[in-house]
Order: sequence, then structure tokens, then C-alpha cells
Amino acid sequence: MRKPFIAGNWKMNKVVEQATSYADTLTELVKKEGIDHDKVDIAICAPYLFLSALKVIFLLRGIDVGAQNLHYEDEGAFTGEISAKMLHDIRVECCIIGHSERRKYNGETSEECAKKVKAAIMYDIRPILCVGETLEERESGNHLEVVKKMLLESLHNVTGAEMVKTVVAYEPLWAIGTGKTATTEQAQEMAAYIRSVIAEKYGKDVADRVIIQYGGSVKSSNIKELMEQEDIDGALVGGASLDPEEFIKIIKYDPDIVCKNVKMIPINRNK
Ligand code: PGA
Repeated sequence: MRKPFIAGNWKMNKVVEQATSYADTLTELVKKEGIDHDKVDIAICAPYLFLSALKVIFLLRGIDVGAQNLHYEDEGAFTGEISAKMLHDIRVECCIIGHSERRKYNGETSEECAKKVKAAIMYDIRPILCVGETLEERESGNHLEVVKKMLLESLHNVTGAEMVKTVVAYEPLWAIGTGKTATTEQAQEMAAYIRSVIAEKYGKDVADRVIIQYGGSVKSSNIKELMEQEDIDGALVGGASLDPEEFIKIIKYDPDIVCKNVKMIPINRNK
């Protein structure tokens, strides 16, 4: 069984005081709402600057801390970069890799993403590998091929054992920050296709275990419908994750996620 995984992507937002007060509020809300950590994985992917502070607040609260990028080398002359080794050192649990904004504005290639996925797993960091097509590519009917190519190149040299630990986030570029969500049919079609591409490369057993998220204008009003789709196991939430009150509504998209006896223990992903 695949455990749902809801991750917030703050992008380049907030300052330290806002980040810590958000974390305090979210921690309270998760407790107050009785979120059952056996039923959902939660993460906040924040700017590097806040990661240590978030780790302290979220410690043993069942909320993972994620970065938004990493460097695949352990150390060296890479000014301005942060390595998987460094993130591991402060116990960061996950990391977004190959987000479309990084591919677009920082020229990040799928080849680099593949190295980043491997580096993350080597340091026990759960990679959230992003793939998605532009509006032009969708309208020309090439979206499946485009995503397949991006996915396979971003998984170059990634083994089956590593694949099982990798989360794939399908984020159509035309739905990011636009308020325009893919229809549930479009999101499910691509998620199922991504799973079939993984099955072709790694076998069905591996593909059945991979968590596939949808991302692109996810909010409390559309999360339930998206999560009901067979191949969608979670969401990568940008804008709507910036407000803890909205984010908690997304986390508890299903009444089953709430339990009476709140467990304040770290989450178990192997369920
Ligand atoms: P959005 O961003 O939810 O604001 O559309 C999603 C993302 O870029 O991860």
C-alpha cells in the first residue's frame, strides 16, 4: 500500500520569523486536528536558511523538513551550493529535485537531476523528482513523450532499490502558480503513464510502490478529488502551502486521516 505524501513547497518565500511562527502554528494544527501520522506523510520544503530552525520545531511532530535543491557532490569548489551530505548532517528528510522553475531559470538538466536523485538517496534523503510538460507541448499532443523522456533521463543509473525510495511529482508547467489545475482526468492519465514507464524500466513490483504526487494549483477545494485518483498518491503544494490554515485543510483531505489518539512519533514510511 502506498502511503499518501503531502509536501509543501514554499519556494522563495518568508523570512525567519515568519517561517518559525508558521511552523509553530502548523505543529499546533496537526496536533489539534488529530492528524494520524500512520496515514499521511507531511513535509515542508523550505529555503535552506530556515531548515535548521524548522527541524527543531518539527522534531518528533511527524512533519518532515525538505530542501528545494541539492548538489550531488559532497563538497568542493561549488560556490553557493549545498550538498546532500550537508542536508543529511542536519537531518533533512526530503528534497525537491528538478523543479520546473530550476530547470527554467537555473538551466538544470535531467542529467544533473539523475545525479541529484542518487546523491539524495545515498544520504537517506527522500527525493521528490519533478517532471512536467509546457502548455505548448500539451497542446501539440506531445506531453506523454516529453514527460517520458524527462523522467527516464532524470532516472539515469538509478537502480530499482533507489527508485522505490524516489517520489515522482507530476507538475504540468501550465498549472503551476496559475490557479489552473489539470483536470483530475489529465492528472490521473499522466500519473498512470508515469507508473507504466517506471514499470517498463523497473518492473511492476517497483512501480506499484512508487509514490506519485500531483502538483500545480493544488488547494483545499481540489485535493480530495485529485487524491481519489488511483495513481495519485500525494501532492506538491506551492502557493496554498504558505498559509498553515489552508495547508492543514489540504493535509486532512480525507476524514480518515484524523484519529482520536494523536501519536507524537516520527512517521513510518514502510507501511
Ligand atoms: P503551485 O506550485 O501550487 O503554487 O501551483 C506548485 C509547485 O510549483 O510545486
